[in-house]
Amino acid sequence: MGQMQGKVVIVTGAARGMGAAEAELIAREGGAVVVADVVADQAEAVAEGIRTAGGRAVAVALDVTSESDWASAVQVAEELGGIHALVNNAGISYRVGLLDTDLDDWNQVMAVNLTGSLLGMRAVVPVMQRQGVGSIVNVSSIAGLTAYPASAYSVSKWGVRGMTKVAALEFAPFGIRVNSVHPGIIETPMLDNAPDVMKTAFASATPMKRMGQAGEVASAVLFLCSDGSSYMSGAELAVDGGFTAGGAFRGVLNEIETANGAPVALRTDRA
Ligand SMILES: NC(=O)c1ccc[n+]([C@@H]2O[C@H](COP(=O)([O-])OP(=O)(O)OC[C@H]3O[C@@H](n4cnc5c(N)ncnc54)[C@H](O)[C@@H]3O)[C@@H](O)[C@H]2O)c1
Repeated sequence: MGQMQGKVVIVTGAARGMGAAEAELIAREGGAVVVADVVADQAEAVAEGIRTAGGRAVAVALDVTSESDWASAVQVAEELGGIHALVNNAGISYRVGLLDTDLDDWNQVMAVNLTGSLLGMRAVVPVMQRQGVGSIVNVSSIAGLTAYPASAYSVSKWGVRGMTKVAALEFAPFGIRVNSVHPGIIETPMLDNAPDVMKTAFASATPMKRMGQAGEVASAVLFLCSDGSSYMSGAELAVDGGFTAGGAFRGVLNEIETANGAPVALRTDRA
């Protein structure tokens, strides 16, 4: 029996990247998945792949900023047997500083990343309330734990983190848990247009010295969706190779190691 047997999960932004990995893992664990994305044909391809592998999945066209799209996605999920978990994973990013961010871009990032997650929670909570149980996972970022040089994105992800805690407080009496996940630098199509120097620098400043893979975030999301996390709500789970634990110091150590020509951790003298 899989961990998600008998449960129905909506995953947004599930046409590719981490969302697709989350949908596939949840399905492998026995859950029925609503594969929701604004790019409907790619969502269908992911759902088809899950069904071919013997899982249960239905694709829906969902723009997370649209309340009517959310109503349709909820209906599809209810036809599958309820809504036991929602993964608010869809997100967009522009790597632009505060002074240079175009107002339309700012508003779009807030609409998708922050308001989209709010609309998702508002759409599923009445169903979860009736069931008396549910788990919501809001995908934030390390950009929601530290300052990140993509201003609107970072602000939106801090908002997702804060909203998660407010929601955890408000929904607990209904049996609904709400947690946030904070991926570090993960190798997905979102980074396709990021310069190589940025990816290399991030990996180098990460204590584990590498980028993460979508499946490594999917495992954390699965845990928070499952009953294994039954006493967790309002928590924030970093999946970042240690970046937020010590990334700043890793950068300092890198500089010292370059200057010394030796790894700091291997020195035996007492300074
Ligand atoms: N890749 C990283 O390094 C990284 C790091 C931290 C956090 N994140 C976050 O993880 C989540 C997934 O990121 P990813 O790297 O897999 O991204 P991705 O760009 O590969 O995939 C994002 C998906 O979201 C969908 N989407 C975009 N706007 C949408 C909308 N309005 N409605 C519905 N779907 C929409 C896209 O079509 C796409 O399928 C995002 O919230 C992102 O901000 C990513």
